[in-house]
Amino acid sequence: MKQLRKAVLPVAGLGTRFLPATKAIAKEMLPVVDKPLIQYSIEEARAAGIEQFCLVTGRGKTALIEHFDIAFELEATLRERNKKEALASLKQAAAVPGTILSVRQQEPHGLGHAIWCARAFIGDDPFAILLPDDLVLAETPCMKQLAEAYEQTRGNIVAVSEVPREHTNRYGILKIGRDDGRLVEVKGLVEKPAPEQAPSNLSIIGRYVLMPEVIDHLAQMERGSGGEVQLTDGMARLIGVQPFHGLRFEGRRFDCGDKLGFLEAQIAFALNRPDMAPGVRGFLKKYGV
Ligand code: UTP
Repeated sequence: MKQLRKAVLPVAGLGTRFLPATKAIAKEMLPVVDKPLIQYSIEEARAAGIEQFCLVTGRGKTALIEHFDIAFELEATLRERNKKEALASLKQAAAVPGTILSVRQQEPHGLGHAIWCARAFIGDDPFAILLPDDLVLAETPCMKQLAEAYEQTRGNIVAVSEVPREHTNRYGILKIGRDDGRLVEVKGLVEKPAPEQAPSNLSIIGRYVLMPEVIDHLAQMERGSGGEVQLTDGMARLIGVQPFHGLRFEGRRFDCGDKLGFLEAQIAFALNRPDMAPGVRGFLKKYGV
């Protein structure tokens, strides 16, 4: 079994739900408390032993790459002013040299197309996918939980969570087989089914471990839901051919691609930080919460 060492982070979407904030900056650069979404994803992947990253970017996304570079002038100024904490936070953001690559998805043809754009980086290796606008607050980072489950199942595995039945038309939904309460066998996948057609209420969240063969299916460029090349459709082709499981991960997931989800993440992540929690509790009281 090949070790999981690579992650693809698709960040080429238009972020229309956050306009005008995302007119000139990428959605993935929006901060939760004081860190951009993209940095949470990279840190989560590193905690799972992943060492190489490929950002699938588009026009106007250069800040995402800049973020992991070294800011010499800023660091020198902070050193001069003896701002130790600020300096340490910069060091935490910088990447190990040569570990973050980027490829361009010239047009946003969908998540499946974005992953296919990373095919040269993926090669013949298993790889993780993290969608930075899905944030997970967990004791054991979500990708680490998936990587451990991959060691056990040795195949494709996606993180899943239960969603209200009336919301199935927003997500990729699983048709499930055997279920031990934590790991479920995936029998089918449907992208955004209407509630009455949904085979379950278990939805895929933005964390995956996939085998490289999915790229061959994505290369067919079949258009699915919304006229886009859907990753879900490519993954569905692997079911029955390779092991495919869903993992009910431990932790709380926040959909930061959505305004309410993003606001909730701000509160939850701030309450989880000892330096922020008392202040946040204080102001929540002012609003009668
Ligand atoms: P979303 O469905 O959230 O789309 O994409 P979006 O464009 O980012 O945001 P809205 O819906 O317009 O507000 C899920 C993930 O897939 C990436 C996005 O960057 C995000 O991480 N994506 C989506 C691409 O990289 N390319 C695409 O063509 C579509």
